Amino acid sequence: MKTLIPKEIKNDFPIFKRKIHGKSLVYLDSASSSQKPKQVIEALSNYYEKMHANIHRGIYTLSEEATLAYEDAHRKVARLINAKFKEIIFTKNTTESINLLAYSLGLELKKGDEILLTEMEHHANLVPWQQIAKRVGAVVKFIKVNKEGELIVDEQLFTKKTKIVAVTHISNVLGTINPIAEIIGKGHKVGAKVVIDAAQSIPHMPFDVKALDADFVAFSSHKMLGPTGIGVLYGKQELLEQMTPFLYGGDMIKEVTLEDSTFNDLPWKFEAGTPNIAGGIAFGTAVEYLTNIGMHNIEQHDKELLKYAHEQLSKVKGITIYGPKDLKKKSSIIAFNFEDIHPHDVSSILDTEGIAIRGGHHCAMPLMKILNLQSSCRLSLYLYNTTEDIDALVKALEKVRKVFK
Ligand SMILES: Cc1ncc(COP(=O)(O)O)c(C=O)c1O
Repeated sequence: MKTLIPKEIKNDFPIFKRKIHGKSLVYLDSASSSQKPKQVIEALSNYYEKMHANIHRGIYTLSEEATLAYEDAHRKVARLINAKFKEIIFTKNTTESINLLAYSLGLELKKGDEILLTEMEHHANLVPWQQIAKRVGAVVKFIKVNKEGELIVDEQLFTKKTKIVAVTHISNVLGTINPIAEIIGKGHKVGAKVVIDAAQSIPHMPFDVKALDADFVAFSSHKMLGPTGIGVLYGKQELLEQMTPFLYGGDMIKEVTLEDSTFNDLPWKFEAGTPNIAGGIAFGTAVEYLTNIGMHNIEQHDKELLKYAHEQLSKVKGITIYGPKDLKKKSSIIAFNFEDIHPHDVSSILDTEGIAIRGGHHCAMPLMKILNLQSSCRLSLYLYNTTEDIDALVKALEKVRKVFK
């Protein structure tokens, strides 16, 4: 089978020249973190070799070039999700973006207010809200998950007391694509602010914040070909203008006296101190790389591969696949178990064949409990994966079976 994105794309990713235990690398863990094309790696070294200086400070060539490049990266990200420049805040990662929101929106919460999450959240979109709720006496409620790992969106959970709805777009465990447009609509109907954890969706599909009417969206560069240590918080301009900053000092300041301070314009109001300049610039290059291929094409490629992977894995005796059966409701992630072999054992034997998958609880312990699982294997696909990668996995699973016979 030929996929939409040609397999030659692997040539852009230097890591695929590496051998692991003498075998070609088969990387099936992009939901955890993606690999990087040479364009992104070069953008990082080019910045340090030719452009490095602090931004927004020096009135000299290097600082001006670095400032322009860093600001331009914000513009590229804004275009990717149809946002305004002022609405794109660079953070460390999705986790920091959500912590920023929990802190800042948490200041407006009162005792008895409700925060509505789902049972399938990554810990990054659960723990910060739990902590804020404890501090202010708010109540955390959950949209339930059914046996197939789909949300049961019960209208009654949305009440006048609901102040924040925070929901993952795509489950990092099961790949379930959640009905976020419906959830945003229901949240707004009761006057709540809606936060979307898009860590697993923006890397894989077109995403339009205006069309969705999302209030806040969080995602990470490292899951979409960019460097680690850089993430995004999108927020509607009018909401960000009203919000209290999370971190103080450096670039987020306009004027300071010994008694008081005023804060900078957006987005810098939320970017305190010297940011990850190199990471931000190289993230811009990653976004350019993705947009040159086209987010629709990436989505289509992932869908074709997901279907192929499902078909091939289903033929392997002893495989149990979790999550939605209807592949239209599923992104490029497959959680599975193999016989009764522990996922850590499956992963480490696959590693001897050069194959990288994830085994464990995937930072979503409550969901695992609901699914009655201690842990699972998880493969996740991206634009550089091929049908040959899936074939290699299926073949290596037979080796796993033999080892445990
Ligand atoms: C759905 C989801 N949310 C949040 C995160 C946290 O992302 P980061 O570690 O980049 O902060 C992840 C990472 O796997 C994720 O899959």
